[in-house]
Formats: sequence, C-alpha cells, structure tokens
Amino acid sequence: MSHLVVVGAQWGDEGKGKVVDLLAADIAAVVRFHGGNNAGHTVAAGGKTYILQLIPSGILHPGKICLIGNGVVVDPVALCREMDGLTGQGIDVSPARLKVSRKAHLIMPYHKALDQAREESRAEGRIGTTGRGIGPCYEDKAARIGVRACDLEDMDLLRRKAAQALREKNALLAGLYGKPPVSLDEVMTGMAAVAPRVLPHLADVSSELAACEASGGVLMFEGAQGVHLDVDHGTYPFVTSSNTVAGNIAAGAGIAPSRQGRIVGIVKAYTTRVGSGPFPTELCDATGDFLRRRGVEFGTITGRKRRCGWQDMVLVRESVRLCGITEIALTKLDVLSGLEELKICTSYEYRGQSILVPPQGENALEQVSPVYETMPGWLENIEAAAAWEDLPEAARAYILRLEALAGVPVSIVSIGPDRRQTLFR
Ligand code: GDP
Ligand code: IMO
Ligand code: MG
Repeated sequence: MSHLVVVGAQWGDEGKGKVVDLLAADIAAVVRFHGGNNAGHTVAAGGKTYILQLIPSGILHPGKICLIGNGVVVDPVALCREMDGLTGQGIDVSPARLKVSRKAHLIMPYHKALDQAREESRAEGRIGTTGRGIGPCYEDKAARIGVRACDLEDMDLLRRKAAQALREKNALLAGLYGKPPVSLDEVMTGMAAVAPRVLPHLADVSSELAACEASGGVLMFEGAQGVHLDVDHGTYPFVTSSNTVAGNIAAGAGIAPSRQGRIVGIVKAYTTRVGSGPFPTELCDATGDFLRRRGVEFGTITGRKRRCGWQDMVLVRESVRLCGITEIALTKLDVLSGLEELKICTSYEYRGQSILVPPQGENALEQVSPVYETMPGWLENIEAAAAWEDLPEAARAYILRLEALAGVPVSIVSIGPDRRQTLFR
C-alpha cells in the first residue's frame, strides 16, 4: 500500500491546505508529522473559509480520521481554541475523529515567552518567528526536559517537569532578557484547565496508523512549512525548528519509511517568504506589490506581509531531490494574470560561476544572483477555466516549462482558493 505525502516545496504557504483537502476524499486518515501552530493552512469550500493550524486539513471531510503525530509540537491551549472554532463552524472534532500522539511534546507558556523575548532582543539577526514557542519546545525535546502530551495524564509529574524547566527559563527570561518570570502556579492552572479536554484525544498514533493500513486504508501525510524552512536542509539559520522534508514522516508519525508512495510537492506559481532570510528572486518593486495584492500575500496567522518574487526553480529542483517529489501541484496560477512577461530563475551566478543547486555556506544564498529565463505572460482572467484547454497558451507554456525544469509532472493546477478552482491533468 503506498501512501500520499503532501509537502511544501518552497518557504511555506504554498497552498498545502487546499491540496490536502482536495485529495482527502479517498483517504482514510490525514496525519501531521511535524511543526505546530506556526502553520496556517487555508481551505475554502462551500462558500466558507477554514484556517487549520494544528488540526489536519482533512478534518473538513466527514468521517476522515485526523491524527497529530509525535513529531508535532502541540500547544494545548491553541488546540482547544482551534477545536472550539471548528465546532462553531459545524465541524466534528470528537475524539473518535481527532487523535493526538501521547508522545507529542507540549508547547508551554514559557516556550512562547522565550521565543518572543529572544526575537525582541535580536536586532539584525531576527528570524521573524511566529512567536508560537516552536523553537524553544523542540529545544527542550532534544535536551530531554520536554513535557509530553502523556504527562497530562499525571499532573504531579507535569508539575515537577515544569518546575525543573522553569528554573532555567526564568533565569533566562529575567536575567538575560529583562522579562517577568513565568509563574509555575499559573502554568499549572492553565494546564489543568485544558487537560480534561485534551486527554480524550490522546492515542498511540503509530499503532492507529498500522491498524488503518491493515484494514486497507490509504494514509495522507500533511507537511507544514516548506522544504527551504527545514532545520537541516533549509536556509539555516532562517528556518523553523523541525524537519519539513518528506523523510521526517517516518520519525514524526511512527511509520516505516518504505510506506511513502505518491509524494506531491506543492509549488506556488511564484515565490513567497515570511520572516527574514535570503530570497534570491525577491521583487522589492511594483511587480512584487502586484503579486502581494493579487495573491493576498499576508500571513494567515500573523497577518505579516509576505515577501514576493519570481519562481525559483533552483529551489524547487532541490526540493524534488530532497523529498523524492513524484508530482507537483502548482497553485495560485491565477495570480499571474495581467503580467506582460514572467521570469523563471533557472540557475544562480555565484562567485563568478553558474550553479544549479543552492550553495551551502551560511547565508551563501544571499550572495547569488538569479539567472532568469523570460516567458510571455497572459492578460486573461483564468479563475473560471474548467479544463487545461481553457488556459491561455502562454499559461500552458509556463506550466510546461516549470515541469521540464522540475523534472516531474505538474498533475494539479490551482486557479483560485476554492476546491472547484482546480484542474487535474
Ligand atoms: P498553506 O500554509 O500552504 O496551506 O497555505 P496558506 O493557506 O497559508 O496560504 C495560501 C493562500 O492562498 C490561502 O489564502 C488560500 O486560500 C489561497 N489559495 C490557495 N490556492 C490558491 C489559488 O490557486 N489561487 C488563489 N488566488 N489563492 C489560492
Ligand atoms: P505553513 O505551514 C510560512 C517561518 C516564520 C519564520 C520561520 C521560523 O502555513 O506553510 P517558527 O515560528 O517556525 O520558529 O518561525 O519560519 N514559518 C512559516 N512561514 N508558512 C509557515 O507555515 C511557517 N511556519 C513558520 O515566518 O521565518
Ligand atoms: Mg500557511
């Protein structure tokens, strides 16, 4: 049985939520395997818009099981808020449908405080994190002082662990960053309030996946962020703190690596990035403003302006290799309507040489110059196209060129946020 994997092939916000929702119809269960509520995945369906942060985007399909794997960092307060929001929109998030790994690490209030204090104190080197405590939570996991979801089953243990962690965190918060210390009692009051709501959802996710497979179910793994935000393979240090590549599914969900089958890379028709870090094809001009305005490129969660630029196929090719992407879902093609010409970065100039893969030194990507190919654009609005043949010739030529440069087929073309605005090839 081969499963389906969806990963972002750029710097996040490629439209993963839309594609996961589209492909979920024939799937038994949708699984998140890394990241946390730094993600913001949008699904527009039936005239409504839903934003998913921790909960897999398959939740909108009645009857699908949604699992949050051990590799995810879970803010239990944010999880409850998200469950409440979905319930209010008429979506069933009962424990029979939504399960959280007991092994998942919890984002505690001190993780958020530390994330925000660090960012504030950095002048030049600010990463532009989402401030959700993602990095500090993964740090504690690696340092073996993390609090896990299963600790909600033993509040005395949780208190001891939080007290141990707070000794260090408060020394940093107060001593180094001049912030008020976090109170253990307040932390515990918060945890006690959410524990009864989270406990019924706790599960052995790895065994649930095995049981689902055994009964013939196909699984879908929903990546968050994008390959170039991967802590190992991304534009370090301007990355998130988890592995976003497809290879992390095995560790982050508890499933053997041999089970991955179809790996769909989500690629926006142009490039965006939120937060700091190198961005070779960035457009700080009227064209960049055009893309931001037409593409409504503002952070789903933080509302921050997304930086916009031309398509960078050096980065996409790197993602294809790193993840074994077998096909591409190209999103937001409609946003390009109205541009006379389009540029595609096919290689970089770096220290006098032409290179086809990103250079690896710290911030070496800052020093490359993109080498562009120019293609004709199209002026027609394409949001209502019903088939490949309805697309202007220039749009088809653009897709075929991206496909040739990526070395894998573009199997899905998205021409608007709604489920129905999708062309399957
Ligand atoms: P994700 O984090 O990868 O799931 O992406 P986000 O949801 O953060 O950002 C993608 C945004 O683009 C959302 O507002 C989507 O509703 C929207 N979107 C997705 N596909 C398309 C498309 O083909 N065209 C347009 N115009 N918007 C799209
Ligand atoms: P989705 O899943 C875009 C970026 C932040 C920051 C860096 C580190 O919606 O595509 P973090 O809070 O993770 O420590 O921030 O990563 N970032 C994202 N950018 N989309 C996301 O998620 C992101 N999640 C984190 O802006 O630059
Ligand atoms: Mg997003």
